[in-house]
Amino acid sequence: MPLDENTRALAQQIIDQYPQSRSALLPMLHLVQAEEGYVSPDGIAFCADALGLTKAEVGAVATFYTMYKRHPTGEHLVSVCTNTLCGMLGGDAIYAALKDELGVGHDETTADGTLTLEHAECLAACDYAPVVTVNYEFFDNQTVESAMSLVAALREGERPQPTRGGKITSFRDAELELAGLLDPELEAQKVAAVDSIEPSLRGLKLARDRGEAAPEADYDSVIPPVPAKEEKK
Ligand code: FES
Repeated sequence: MPLDENTRALAQQIIDQYPQSRSALLPMLHLVQAEEGYVSPDGIAFCADALGLTKAEVGAVATFYTMYKRHPTGEHLVSVCTNTLCGMLGGDAIYAALKDELGVGHDETTADGTLTLEHAECLAACDYAPVVTVNYEFFDNQTVESAMSLVAALREGERPQPTRGGKITSFRDAELELAGLLDPELEAQKVAAVDSIEPSLRGLKLARDRGEAAPEADYDSVIPPVPAKEEKK
């Protein structure tokens, strides 16, 4: 049984970190995904029981965020950003090519269970556009060819090194990380990974070279004063 005593012990570890148990819901849902590959009906019942919530309350949260999956996810989740900037710089073509190659559409998994494909909204890495993530690790400045090689390698069982950050794991291990329960050795590797943020700093460098700076904000004119508390009689 996937959601067993061991899961309950891990859940308790998460719950103990919060003053109110209901605040543990988001990491708990990641724990469920680590065990089940998605937020299953059993997982919803598990969270509701552990946190003293109704299944409707848990379901309402789980269906609000796109990171919580409604069907079993493959070994790897491949997300292609098709938001405006990535889309225009090649993200749309990458998504179309992967869709053809894998024979699946959005939020669908290949028959061999290795890959789930999705098109994603902005992945907050526009300065590296177009980007693809695998289990939320970034592969920057992708082309149709590089993305096709990436998925081919994943299907062969390889774990290609992301452009930034640590090594990729499986989707389920990534979910364990998001639940705050990452293996300490893997966590150390991720922390030690050196990231290049040079593209993110180009605008700042350009502004400094030109002697430009943002104008001082006049907060008093935009933020109304806080009314004084009334004295209790
Ligand atoms: S538009 Fe793709 S990361 Fe922002």
